[in-house]
Amino acid sequence: MTSPDFQIVPYSDPDHRQDVVALWNAVFGYDTPHNEPGLAIDRKLAVDDGLFFVAVSDDRAIGTALGGYDGHRGWIYSLAVDPAFQRQGIGTALLRHVESALVDLDCVKINLQIAQGNEAVESFYAGLGYATEERVSMGKRLVR
Ligand SMILES: CC(C)(COP(=O)(O)OP(=O)(O)OC[C@H]1O[C@@H](n2cnc3c(N)ncnc32)[C@H](O)[C@@H]1OP(=O)(O)O)[C@@H](O)C(=O)NCCC(=O)NCCS
Repeated sequence: MTSPDFQIVPYSDPDHRQDVVALWNAVFGYDTPHNEPGLAIDRKLAVDDGLFFVAVSDDRAIGTALGGYDGHRGWIYSLAVDPAFQRQGIGTALLRHVESALVDLDCVKINLQIAQGNEAVESFYAGLGYATEERVSMGKRLVR
């Protein structure tokens, strides 16, 4: 199989919205309304931090990577590649791209979370220099 031609570009609305919503619905099992793709896109755009990237092939968004930086830690979220295009280096390219954007912001450490038991994604990140750290991940939903 030949590798697809793709480019990594900043997310542009509305050009990429439909593809990204379809991709996230396909690869992430959403069970909470605050993660609904359209809402997640709107909230990320509202922050306007320039850390939302898509991989585009034939005018179609086939992959995504979101970064976050708060001045202390960088985060990576929503790294996803259309299953039809996986194992062709696109996930690696997206991760490297967002890492480089975080380095440009002087970020010195990236954290990310993986759902427990997702060994495939764990080995993907391990192959790219990420180590499992002994931490307990906690969260709290803020309700208005
Ligand atoms: C994780 C993900 C983004 C990787 O994208 P990708 O384009 O397939 O990744 P790459 O082709 O760059 O893979 C690089 C290497 O990572 C490892 N890897 C990737 N997917 C793997 C899998 N399913 N199982 C085991 N190793 C895997 C392999 O070593 C691979 O190299 P190889 O294909 O030469 O063996 C993709 O599998 C995905 O979208 N998963 C669903 C969404 C998800 O769970 N995202 C993570 C949120 S934290």
